[in-house]
Amino acid sequence: MSRSATDAAARVRSLNGGAAALAYVKVFGCQQNEADGERLRGMLAEMGYGFTEDAGLADVVVFNTCGVRLHAEQRAFGHIGAAGREAVIRRKRQIVAVCGCMAQLESVRETLKRSYRHVNLVFGPDDLHRFPELLYGALTEGGRHFHETSSGAPPDAEEGLPALRTPPAKAEGRAFVTVMKGCDNYCSYCVVPYTRGRERSRAPEAVTAEVKGLIEQGYREFTLLGQNVNSYRPGGGGEIADFPDLLAALAGLDGDFSLRFMTSHPKDASDKLFAVMADCPKIAPHLHLPAQSGSTKILAAMNRGYTREHYIALTERARAAVPGLNLTGDIMVGFPGETEADFEETLELLETVRFDSLFTFLYSPRPGTPAADLPDDTPMEVKKARFQRLLETQRRVEG
Ligand code: SAH
Ligand code: SF4
Ligand code: F3S
Repeated sequence: MSRSATDAAARVRSLNGGAAALAYVKVFGCQQNEADGERLRGMLAEMGYGFTEDAGLADVVVFNTCGVRLHAEQRAFGHIGAAGREAVIRRKRQIVAVCGCMAQLESVRETLKRSYRHVNLVFGPDDLHRFPELLYGALTEGGRHFHETSSGAPPDAEEGLPALRTPPAKAEGRAFVTVMKGCDNYCSYCVVPYTRGRERSRAPEAVTAEVKGLIEQGYREFTLLGQNVNSYRPGGGGEIADFPDLLAALAGLDGDFSLRFMTSHPKDASDKLFAVMADCPKIAPHLHLPAQSGSTKILAAMNRGYTREHYIALTERARAAVPGLNLTGDIMVGFPGETEADFEETLELLETVRFDSLFTFLYSPRPGTPAADLPDDTPMEVKKARFQRLLETQRRVEG
């Protein structure tokens, strides 16, 4: 932790005066949010908090939220609202913090201000490292604190933050390791570039040191995390210049462990990546390569940066290079302007590529994204019927 974070943690600890103050942390969304949740818990432990599974008993309640789809947002609002009712029933004075991706969306901040008056601390993913200081402010000043995110935090701002992970035996030896933050791809439907800010890569030395430390603690399976791990570019002119270099270096560490990674963007996944996967037995032969659609027209409208043909050729090269490859993907149904013919191209893609498993999503318009302004004349019943057909096709492929 930085000096100021350590000082703030000590100040919060002394506020609690050695009494057993309790924290409750609930995480929604992707593995990156899980990894951030481990660090929120780590910082809370440094501040002297114990943990409870009962939000109603906690002195500090933290919701690390996800805004990728409306459903995720509604689920988080459900939990945030319930915490407020519980606090009223138990007459408990709490700090209720909302952080993570939703905290960065203007529409959500407005709703929190207006309708969730028990929420008294709000900060975005880029302010994670400032949590002790922000919590200290909320505890000592009272009132409600809606922090504008300080995006532009240096790439090493989060280095050294303590993470409270599930112990290796309980986690089946699995641990997440973030290698990069943010996303610069601006897919037209997606909030992530707005919530998590610009891409920043961690220094390879920092990633390597973290993995080494985790091996010593007994972890055996590492998932390297980034919204697009293939744009990992640490700079600095060292030997590790890109993601395949980093993977190969980590696979060269001593110990009995395996490596996984997600997510790979089809426009950036390279033959070099597949060669490293094939060469290093410690790298699991698993590639998660979200396609989103099988229609080049829809892919262009999504701003994905590749065509149907590129995607198919890429998966063929990956399968040829990596023996026993487990290929998984994401498909989104009901993007604005998707016609029956576009959708049939997606079904054909499933038959051609034969994903080992698939994550399927119904398009959800998100405020502030370009796709939210596109005309969309496909009725919801049609989209839902397509979603069912997608599931049936994948079921047949998996056979
Ligand atoms: N960075 C990753 C994915 C992050 S979000 C990538 O680009 O592959 C995980 C998945 O959620 C995406 O692959 C997409 O299929 C889905 N998703 C993102 N925004 C969505 C939206 N507005 N509506 C529905 N699904 C969405
Ligand atoms: Fe969102 Fe696209 Fe970035 Fe993935 S690559 S996080 S879908 S903008
Ligand atoms: Fe959700 Fe943010 Fe992850 S929007 S999917 S928690 S990057």
